Amino acid sequence: MSKLTTLNEFIMKKQADFPGASGELSRLLNDIAVASKIVTRDVRRAGLVDNILGAQGEVNVQGEQQQKLDVVADNQFIKMFEMGGEVCGIGSEENDNYMAFKSETSKNGKYVVLFDPLDGSSNIDVNVSIGTIFSIYHRISPVGTEATLEDMLQPGDKQVAGGYVLYGSSTMLVYTTGNGVNGFTLDPTIGEFCLSHPNMKTPETGRIYSMNEGNIAVCHPGYRKYTEYCQEEDASTGRPYSGRYIGSLVADFHRNLIKGGIYFYPTTPAAPKGRLRLLYECNPLAFVIEQAGGLATDGTQRIMSIKPTELHQRVGFIVGSKQMVEKLQECLDTTAVEA
Ligand code: AHG
Ligand code: MN
Ligand code: MN
Repeated sequence: MSKLTTLNEFIMKKQADFPGASGELSRLLNDIAVASKIVTRDVRRAGLVDNILGAQGEVNVQGEQQQKLDVVADNQFIKMFEMGGEVCGIGSEENDNYMAFKSETSKNGKYVVLFDPLDGSSNIDVNVSIGTIFSIYHRISPVGTEATLEDMLQPGDKQVAGGYVLYGSSTMLVYTTGNGVNGFTLDPTIGEFCLSHPNMKTPETGRIYSMNEGNIAVCHPGYRKYTEYCQEEDASTGRPYSGRYIGSLVADFHRNLIKGGIYFYPTTPAAPKGRLRLLYECNPLAFVIEQAGGLATDGTQRIMSIKPTELHQRVGFIVGSKQMVEKLQECLDTTAVEA
């Protein structure tokens, strides 16, 4: 049996590849791991203790009902970033505006983090997998000053690291720093994330498509054409494919990353700019999928090339196995929108 590699050991080994590195990114990744262990604990006990299940009673800037666990997770990550000293400011789904940390240590932090503290909130109360998604950037503003909005509004291509934590049947942390994707599973008996999925690659094609098909009649007709293609019988291409939609982006993404598949959430009349958020949902997952050999686009351009203009900017999102994304793109490009 080979020796277990813990996340901490893995991060340290990677840091050694960059002799001049200060270790701040390593510490930041470690802080994310620690915060996610605390959130794991809260998620695992959610049905048992008061003040964790159910709605918070507030509506966030997205116009969505905040769940108590959204707020618990948000506070936990913010506390970790604020105390850690590597981060000068954050942008979170649950906060209307970005936060610039005020302490001198934080003002000297090199990084900003954009994150969705709990993804899949509607699944919390029904015991279905949820997650955390994060994206790390170098700040643009000078070290020693307060973080600015410009620090937050960087294209995905500038990410230093991106990834997610999935609170599923086990807790997993998956991330990339632009040199492949690695996945770590939390061993609850020792409280450590251990390398379980080294150098993750997504299959070139797969047999799973994931969308909220309730929207099929109200989105671009190219999506209907593609879903009909997925449902056609053709043994040579493994069709019909399976439709799978959990409704937690992280969980749907993670399954498709491993098995091969495509996830798409198009623009709709109810969400004319898209449902998902560019900065803390789409960009980090786009970074992971590209590093794993897949593609991420909004139907017209590569997700990570988009220059953001707003903190909570929404986009249409297509992500997954290369050949499947290309096929959906072909359906979009060859289907006329009726006037
Ligand atoms: P969040 O819980 O962070 O607001 O994100 C929910 C997102 C995503 O997880 C999921 O894929 C999608 O919303 C589900 O939307 P629908 O219920 O419209 O399908
Ligand atoms: Mn989300
Ligand atoms: Mn969320």
